[in-house]
Amino acid sequence: MKSEEELVNKSEDGGGKPLTKEKVANGLLSFQTIAVFFVLTVFTCIIIEQPQPSSLCNNDTESSIIVQRVQQQPKYTIYTNGKGEEHLVHVLAVLERIGYQRTTIESMEWDIMWAHDYPFSRLKPLLNNLKSHQKINHFPGCGYLTNKLSLSITGLPYQLKAFQLPNDKDNLMQYITENPEKIFVEKDNEHRHIYIRNTTELNLTSNSTFVQEYLRNPYLVDGYKFDIGIYVVITSINPLRVYIYQGDVLFRYCPEKYHPFDPNNLNKYVVGDDYLPTWDVPSLRKYFKTFGFSMKDSFDAYVRSTGKDPSTVWDQVDDIISDTILTKEKLIVNSLKAYNVENFFEMMRFDLLIDEDLNVILIEANMSPNLSSAHFKENKLLYEQVIYNYMNLVGVASSVKRESLQKLDDKVEDMMSSDKNLVVDVERCVRNNCDINCKSVECELCNTCLSGKQYKILERTYREHVNKMDMKRVFPKPIKNLSTYDVEEEVKNLSPQNAFITKWFYEKCKMNSIWCT
Ligand SMILES: *[C@@H]1O[C@H](CO)[C@@H](O)[C@H](O)[C@H]1NC(C)=O
Ligand SMILES: *[C@@H]1O[C@H](CO)[C@@H](O)[C@H](O)[C@H]1NC(C)=O
Ligand SMILES: *[C@@H]1O[C@H](CO)[C@@H](O)[C@H](O)[C@H]1NC(C)=O
Ligand SMILES: *[C@@H]1O[C@H](CO)[C@@H](O)[C@H](O)[C@H]1NC(C)=O
Ligand SMILES: *[C@@H]1O[C@H](CO)[C@@H](O)[C@H](O)[C@H]1NC(C)=O
Ligand SMILES: *[C@@H]1O[C@H](CO)[C@@H](O)[C@H](O)[C@H]1NC(C)=O
Repeated sequence: MKSEEELVNKSEDGGGKPLTKEKVANGLLSFQTIAVFFVLTVFTCIIIEQPQPSSLCNNDTESSIIVQRVQQQPKYTIYTNGKGEEHLVHVLAVLERIGYQRTTIESMEWDIMWAHDYPFSRLKPLLNNLKSHQKINHFPGCGYLTNKLSLSITGLPYQLKAFQLPNDKDNLMQYITENPEKIFVEKDNEHRHIYIRNTTELNLTSNSTFVQEYLRNPYLVDGYKFDIGIYVVITSINPLRVYIYQGDVLFRYCPEKYHPFDPNNLNKYVVGDDYLPTWDVPSLRKYFKTFGFSMKDSFDAYVRSTGKDPSTVWDQVDDIISDTILTKEKLIVNSLKAYNVENFFEMMRFDLLIDEDLNVILIEANMSPNLSSAHFKENKLLYEQVIYNYMNLVGVASSVKRESLQKLDDKVEDMMSSDKNLVVDVERCVRNNCDINCKSVECELCNTCLSGKQYKILERTYREHVNKMDMKRVFPKPIKNLSTYDVEEEVKNLSPQNAFITKWFYEKCKMNSIWCT
């Protein structure tokens, strides 16, 4: 159950039985791919004693005998905190399709761990000793973004005001004195009830309530309120790199029309499991079903049909996501101190609302967004494409055949990216003699002055960009107009690492516009 008012940090799971170690092991069998070896054919070659045309066993002619080496596959593992795995079928399917084989967590042979639940508390000793090629799909400290309470009281301009009682009682009293006309959503932390209250009805003496301003003027499609879910990937912290999936957006409409408004009827303003999907919204059905548009493009077409420009929504969405993550980045950097930052990436779903003037409001970020199509089969494609694009972006899916995510031969690594792909503004490097001396700030992006760590950062950044498929970078911010872009202004308030990567994208953008966005 998800809703704008869902304020407790609950990950999006179906319920489920506890998963014992045995059950994990049993689950394994069904997912193990069965390796097929053609070992016998090798013997065929060996036991033939009489002189044979050499071509029979010759590996570089068109012999009818296939000799196939045992091919090692890269490995994944799954961590769920006792919830079964029905909700992960699309994750498993994509990982198998991109050539991964399942293994146990304990084997520590895995290249990627897909953790549905936050793994760092329970698996601590294990995860403190990761090898550099092992990847986990969460950052330690991601809760600074995904904890609903922590995020909602951050006070960013595109958020609804929120107060936690009893701590914020004075602030709340002041706010209602100044804004007597506002209405609020009151949520009892213990009983998980949701109420809509005006300022006189709020219970200010409660000691375990969360109060959030209610959005009174939501944008409606055919009279239905809705929320939108954006799939967001953080590929790196410090420097920060954030992408969003632009192939589609999850739109969930409320099952009943918003007007006449009735605070006692949650179906009018809360999105739950039984939401109204795009294809059941009359004005959208044709775009989505008949002409095959995405949910996002169907919505955009509808907005245009009312004479408004939907692009303003998506510009705000990009900014909201990058600004929110940037705001919390420092806290995550702290949580990462005990770890090697290279081991992590993360996909979240940001849930947002739109008001009738097409202003976008941030509601929450979900750590493990629901990727189950059990209820709506039509969502299967969305989820699999999101996961597939994500796996490509972070380099887990690879077009080069590999046995693990460990570093490959130098010649293969060079083929994927090399110095000449990373260097920028060579004239400046020459002009400032950056081969002799790196003291000048003008030299900071020259290959002769990059630290090993910086080189690795650029290498990963380069490879992400060329493998981003239908992902769109939102931080470092895309450069919309190079002639008005002021890089010094852009980096002014950024951390040194974020300034570094922002400048690099700027230089790449000057060389070729495909790097601007
Ligand atoms: C996740 O989605 C599935 C299918 O739509 C649904 O059955 C399940 O209840 C959802 N879980 C949560 C926590 O929303
Ligand atoms: C064929 O096999 C030989 C002996 O194992 C090996 O040296 C050679 O490189 C192979 N040729 C090709 C094209 O794989
Ligand atoms: C708040 O709601 C109560 C009960 O519905 C109503 O009597 C009262 O007039 C409302 N107050 C304001 C300020 O809207
Ligand atoms: C307000 O909250 C307090 C503490 O939870 C409770 O004892 C009291 O009954 C509530 N008052 C109303 C009017 O609901
Ligand atoms: C709230 O107050 C009631 C009674 O005053 C108490 O029993 C309860 O434990 C308190 N809850 C919290 C979360 O402090
Ligand atoms: C970029 O900005 C310049 C200067 O303001 C303007 O002339 C130009 O039309 C802009 N280009 C685009 C693509 O918006």
